[in-house]
Amino acid sequence: MSAPAITVLADPGELAAQAADHFIELASAALAVRATVAVALAGGSTPRAMNALLAAEPRRGRLDWRRVRFFFGDERCVPPDHADSNYRMTRETLFDPLSIPAANVERIRGEDVPHAAAAAYGARLEALLGESPVFDLVYLGMGPDGHTASLFPGTIATLDARALAIANFVPKFDTYRITVTPRVINAARHVTITAAGAEKAAALAAVINGPRDPNLYPAQLVAPQAGELHWLVDAAAAAQLNLPVS
Ligand code: 6PG
Repeated sequence: MSAPAITVLADPGELAAQAADHFIELASAALAVRATVAVALAGGSTPRAMNALLAAEPRRGRLDWRRVRFFFGDERCVPPDHADSNYRMTRETLFDPLSIPAANVERIRGEDVPHAAAAAYGARLEALLGESPVFDLVYLGMGPDGHTASLFPGTIATLDARALAIANFVPKFDTYRITVTPRVINAARHVTITAAGAEKAAALAAVINGPRDPNLYPAQLVAPQAGELHWLVDAAAAAQLNLPVS
């Protein structure tokens, strides 16, 4: 794996703009060499601003959205119209404004029994992207505890390393979440992790500069074998980072 690229933006607004431009750049480069681009999106709140910029001019006109196949990195175990649904957030901020056809979106069925939903999503990844799925773009966030996707501290030791998607019980929320595994994330051509806010500064410093302890800081599991890792963070999240002087 090549060294991760870390870009520090002034504030969340600048981060969203950079993330949106970066999305267009990477997706356009992929579409120059293949018919469609496969993107796994992050959930949570950070992607909202990036999605809104992608769905608005001038960016919306810079990509043939009909050639983008959308997937999710993780999903909460809730129905698709639930306030906590990553699918609902993304539908409202990206799919509906861009009129993305349902056929181009592979939703994780959070309303189903968790293990069945994970198995079904893994089977769809295999059917659509092959038995060793390679996403062109994977987007992730990072929580203040260093989790990414739904890979949470203390839940890593029992991960099925060969699975494509799992139902991961998250003790802090006393619930399951469905998530792709590090195997899928690290097979991607480009992985972008976004993190904004002072509440993430300690975890970001631990993930980037601290000793390797992925069970404590699961974001350390993100290490694309052949692809590139891009961190897009704001100054507040980067406040405790030891960055090389450029
Ligand atoms: C989710 C995400 C999760 C998220 C981080 C950061 O389902 O919530 O996949 O991993 O990216 O928790 O969330 P924020 O962007 O809301 O800070």
